[in-house]
Amino acid sequence: MIDYQLKTTSDGSHTLYIPQIDEQYHSLNGAVTESLHVFIENGYLYNSSLSPVVLEVGFGTGLNCLLTALQAEKLKRATTYLTIDNNLLPPEVISQLNYDKILQGSAKNLFSTIHKIPWEVKTPVSEYFELHKINADVTKPGWQLKELCNIIYFDAFGPDKQPDMWKEEIFRTLFEMTLPEGVFVTYSAKGEVRRRLTKVGYTVERLTGPPGKKEMLRGRKWRIN
Ligand SMILES: C[S@@+](CC[C@H](N)C(=O)[O-])C[C@H]1O[C@@H](n2cnc3c(N)ncnc32)[C@H](O)[C@@H]1O
Repeated sequence: MIDYQLKTTSDGSHTLYIPQIDEQYHSLNGAVTESLHVFIENGYLYNSSLSPVVLEVGFGTGLNCLLTALQAEKLKRATTYLTIDNNLLPPEVISQLNYDKILQGSAKNLFSTIHKIPWEVKTPVSEYFELHKINADVTKPGWQLKELCNIIYFDAFGPDKQPDMWKEEIFRTLFEMTLPEGVFVTYSAKGEVRRRLTKVGYTVERLTGPPGKKEMLRGRKWRIN
């Protein structure tokens, strides 16, 4: 039984802490701030596809998904969001999270729909956002998707806590699923992560990280890769 502890981060938004692995779902320097910086600004908004397919590794609380849905509606940018997780949070934990209150507006309805829709079925959440939640273990074979992606959010627990998720084979599979001109973003800036991403074919750049982190990584797949 996992013990999820609710924590309030520096920008007032919640995250979850798991004492068994001494790890939290987001940065304590601001969960919403981190997600906006790493995944929305440097991933979703950086990629210029008119109707992107986003793949998220690690659905967790649904915060990245909610922020992407809000952007898709704001920009009227038809977005398909595929997200994978092998450990679904209990509803009583999700209901304590304050993202809908912090983000206001349509966030309340979107957050509730994101969590209500069934797993394993691609389902419209709003006019410009459709969601396919996939219950699968990324470290095991058999989860490959049919769709190729424009943007990959890699949001696993840290490489020190969960090294199996940061292996070269996983990055190679994700690279094969990335469309030309597609991007891969992650909050980690570890040298070994950067080297593995480069080895599988991404052109990797170090970007300024969110508050409390000097750097993050973005990989790009060129047309000729
Ligand atoms: C850092 S949290 C993700 C935070 C999330 N993106 C959010 O917005 O709240 C990491 C997530 O990866 C999931 N995870 C861990 N191991 C996994 C695996 N082998 N396959 C798929 N998901 C995994 C965890 O269950 C957890 O939800």
